[in-house]
Amino acid sequence: MINSPDNSPRYAVIGNPISHSLSPRIHQAFAQQVEIQLQYEAIDIAEDDFENGLHDLIQQGFKGLNVTAPFKQKAWQICDRRSPRAEDAGAVNTLILQNNEIAGDNTDGAGLTRDLVNNHNALIKRRKILLLGAGGAVRGVLPALLALSPDRLTVANRTVEKAEQLAEDFHEIGDITPSAYDDLGRDKFDLIINGTSAGLSREVPPVPDEILGINSICYDMTYNIKGNTAFVEWAQSRGASRAFDGLGMLVEQAAESFFIWHGKRVDTKEVIESIRQSASVD
Ligand code: ATR
Repeated sequence: MINSPDNSPRYAVIGNPISHSLSPRIHQAFAQQVEIQLQYEAIDIAEDDFENGLHDLIQQGFKGLNVTAPFKQKAWQICDRRSPRAEDAGAVNTLILQNNEIAGDNTDGAGLTRDLVNNHNALIKRRKILLLGAGGAVRGVLPALLALSPDRLTVANRTVEKAEQLAEDFHEIGDITPSAYDDLGRDKFDLIINGTSAGLSREVPPVPDEILGINSICYDMTYNIKGNTAFVEWAQSRGASRAFDGLGMLVEQAAESFFIWHGKRVDTKEVIESIRQSASVD
């Protein structure tokens, strides 16, 4: 058992790798805003030892955990109970540990749509949306995007069969048009969201330039606080009207987890700005 520096309730984000996570800083900033005491750590769990790692933390008395790559789907499987949005997504990023029970939720979709709609004034209703990628990150946000009634939601993926599978898996929630990158044609999209992991190797999915219209907004679900992501750079160089990275989504999904655990709403814009500012003076 790790000695805890104080008696305030313990929370953590678990993943692999996790050392660079901004979540401890974000949750401490929220806690300060609403004047509550908590501990929030970033904990690495071995990739092949998720269940033991999780049960160890439950034994240590953690009250809640955020879950990030590569464990969101494994965490979903292990839950005793799931919220409807977690059930739909097939992945969880928030665990509530109480009454000897593991309850799971997914706040990624709310995080993405709040950042788009509240922070960037992007419209989703009746708009043509293109989502790039068909992995766990995309699954997590699909229910929230579909709930906002886009005109069309296209999912393009390098392995097109995965996009087709996803359209089938979500067909009861809403219509998804699967596509290969080459087949996207010349249709313009209002909003293009990168949900691939291509940026980890500073690559950009092979989308044709023609899909960008003069009013297209590009959004990268990953972020880079020290500069632009490869996808944001691509979008800017192709003349996208606006291009954003996913720092806002990270803070918004954290705020929703914070609300689930503590029942308090926080001012996210203040935290997003303070993280960007501190990165620029580092
Ligand atoms: P995550 O949990 O981050 O979604 P994942 O489930 O492994 O991770 O999914 C990664 C996604 O990024 C997939 O859609 C993958 O495409 P494939 O299904 O064809 O593998 C996509 N991806 C990763 N690297 C890419 C690249 N260089 N170009 C295009 N797509 C890429």
